[in-house]
Amino acid sequence: MMYINNLKGKYVQHLLSVDDMSEDFIHEIWTNALKNKDTNSDSLTGKILTNLFYEPSTRTSSSFYSAMTKKGGSVIPINNVKFSSVTKGETLEDTIITMSTMSDCIVLRHHEVGSAERAAKVSPVPIINGGDGNGEHPTQTLLDGLTIYSNNNNNLDNLNVTFIGDLKNGRTVKSLVKLLSRYKNNNFNFISPDNLRYPSDILPIDSFESDKIEDVISKTDVLYVTRVQKERGSDHNYVLTEETLSKLNDKAIVMHPLPRVNEIPKEFDKDKRAKYFEQMRNGLWCRMALLEKIILN
Ligand code: NCD
Repeated sequence: MMYINNLKGKYVQHLLSVDDMSEDFIHEIWTNALKNKDTNSDSLTGKILTNLFYEPSTRTSSSFYSAMTKKGGSVIPINNVKFSSVTKGETLEDTIITMSTMSDCIVLRHHEVGSAERAAKVSPVPIINGGDGNGEHPTQTLLDGLTIYSNNNNNLDNLNVTFIGDLKNGRTVKSLVKLLSRYKNNNFNFISPDNLRYPSDILPIDSFESDKIEDVISKTDVLYVTRVQKERGSDHNYVLTEETLSKLNDKAIVMHPLPRVNEIPKEFDKDKRAKYFEQMRNGLWCRMALLEKIILN
C-alpha cells in the first residue's frame, strides 16, 4: 500500500494502482467482503466519502455510494462535474484540497492517466483511484479477482485467461493483468483488432495475441470481455455470438466489467458461466471492506 507525505506532514494510505495492494491486503479485503454479504453496520458512522467523477459511471459511483451508506457513513456525490466549480476552471488539485476539508476519503474518476497520483500528492485524506483515463482501475480488480477466486476453488493459479475487445484503452484489463501476473502458471491471450492491441510495453511474457477468438476459446478458463471505448476514439467492436460462446468449456466463466454495448448476447445471461452480474455484487462487498480498511486505518 502506498503512503504519501501529505500537506499536514502525515502519512496517508491511498489506493492508486494494483501495485499498492499486497497479497495480504487483497486477501483481507476478500475475506471481509464475503462477511459483508447481506449485512449492514455502523462502523463508518459520522464519516463522509466524496465521489468525485469527471467521467460517466453507474456501477463504480453507485457501489461506493451504497457501500459507504451500508457501513453507516454518508456520501457527497459529485457525479457531474459540469455543475461544480470545475466548470469555472478550478484545477484538480484545488478541487481535491477543497473536498478533503469536508470528507474522510475521496474516490476519483478522471479522464487523465496519473490523475489519482496528482490528487494523492495534495490530499490529506485517502484517494481511491476509481479509474484514471486508460491507466488503472484497482477497485475493479478487487471485484474481478474475487469473482475468479471464488469460482476457481479459492485459487488464482494455472488459469488460461482470454481478454477480448479494446485492450488498448480498457483500464480494467491492465489492472487485472497486474494482479493475475503475480500468481503461478497463468497464460494470457489478448484478442483485439490490430489497432486496439494491448500495449506492447506492458505485455506479459509468453502471452498470445490474435484478432480471432476462435484461436483460444475452447481452452479458455476465464473469458474477460470489454467494450470498445468510443470516448477514447476507438471504433471496431467484437460481438460474441451464442455459437462462439458455445465453444467454451463447461467450467469456463465469462466476465465483463460492464457496461456492455453488444459484445455479449442477452441470451447468454442465464447461462451458469455468465458471471458479470456476480461481479457487481462482489464489487459492493469489496468496496464496503475497502472503505472500512482505508478510512479506519
Ligand atoms: C469500466 C471502466 O470505467 O473502466 N467500467 C466499470 O467501472 N465497471 C469499463 C468500461 O467503462 O468499459
